[in-house]
Amino acid sequence: MSKKIKLGILGGGGDSLIGVLHRIASFMNDNYEIVGAVFNPDHNDSLTFAKEIGVPTNRIYKDFDTLVEEELKLPEGERIQVCSILTPNFLHFPMAKKLLENGFNVICEKPMTTTYEEAKILQAALEKAKTVFAVTHTYTGYPMVRQMREMVKAGDLGKVQKVDVQYYQGWINPIIHDKEKRSTTWRLNPEKAGISCCMGDIGVHAFNMVEYTTGLQVDTILADLNYLYEDNKMDIDGTVLIRLKGGVKGVIRASQIATGEENRLTVAIYGDKGGLRWEQENPNLLYVLSDDKPLQVFKPGHAYNSKLSLDGTKLPPGHPEGIFDAMANIYLGVAKAIRGEAYNSGEFPTMMDGVRGLNFIESTVASHQQGNTWITLK
Ligand SMILES: NC(=O)c1ccc[n+]([C@@H]2O[C@H](COP(=O)([O-])OP(=O)(O)OC[C@H]3O[C@@H](n4cnc5c(N)ncnc54)[C@H](O)[C@@H]3O)[C@@H](O)[C@H]2O)c1
Repeated sequence: MSKKIKLGILGGGGDSLIGVLHRIASFMNDNYEIVGAVFNPDHNDSLTFAKEIGVPTNRIYKDFDTLVEEELKLPEGERIQVCSILTPNFLHFPMAKKLLENGFNVICEKPMTTTYEEAKILQAALEKAKTVFAVTHTYTGYPMVRQMREMVKAGDLGKVQKVDVQYYQGWINPIIHDKEKRSTTWRLNPEKAGISCCMGDIGVHAFNMVEYTTGLQVDTILADLNYLYEDNKMDIDGTVLIRLKGGVKGVIRASQIATGEENRLTVAIYGDKGGLRWEQENPNLLYVLSDDKPLQVFKPGHAYNSKLSLDGTKLPPGHPEGIFDAMANIYLGVAKAIRGEAYNSGEFPTMMDGVRGLNFIESTVASHQQGNTWITLK
């Protein structure tokens, strides 16, 4: 009998951006099978899509509440074990809360909720449920990002003294400059996206990368956000000065109006003995910097990498690891947790990362609104 974990999908229909990444990632290590879904709010769209991708239609439900209700009627061995929430942001909280209250494991897209208050409610729900909860900060799944984390932890850079994370995209340009389009995109609608567009969508990834790779928490921030038009309520660009616990200073720069940029996430950490730089658009290269040695470039799959990094590679060195592999590594970690197997805490971002993310998003907006003041994260 198949030992695959029974996966349900919420959102992520054929019209979505992120659905394909989760579906393929879930299949990559042979751990999951999709047994149920609400791919779209329209039931017929969901059914059509399920047929197209070969998912049986008997558990394609008309809506989320029906999915929970019907799945709970099934014997535990047949029931969905974990649901991936891939809808627009405002649905993450009600869906995740109800799933936790009914004993399901959850894989949730970022930002985990639309407010910090909701995030804390989810945290309390998880404490009661004692199930597995992951937030898909996808980039933490790259082998060379994991290597960064382990090298910093091992002290290879000495004492961290500067952090610079930049996440530049240009995709919102054609939308933001068109009055009609900027009023109809869900990412620019606070009711659907939350109080922030740029910081909520990509700034939060950059923030997570700071904490994931350094192992240090951000303590205080000062944000300067950019809205471009008076009728636009959501930031689409911004710079955030950060101070980490222990006094390390740094900067998070995020933009969706960096004309021509694609998905340029760059993470740089500098210590008193060396530095590390990694770029998402060339994710197999980790630059190791030093004042007194030539530049070194680490690549995935080599024995010189840490166990956490090597556990995230499937083929020998020279076979590029991409975004699908990164997400698959997160699904692999979640599978181990669901099965009660040992795993490294770096294998997937958790509820705590989700709560910290909302703390960051709300603090950046508050800092900007209060006239670019320093704010201490809760
Ligand atoms: N981890 C990452 O790097 C990453 C990248 C992109 C998007 N995301 C996140 O993923 C989420 C979805 O983003 P997207 O770009 O795929 O959005 P999208 O608008 O492209 O797709 C949303 C999907 O949800 C479906 N949906 C909407 N309401 C629904 C409902 N009530 N029930 C079931 N399905 C419903 C839509 O039909 C669509 O298929 C967002 O929270 C976003 O922040 C994360």
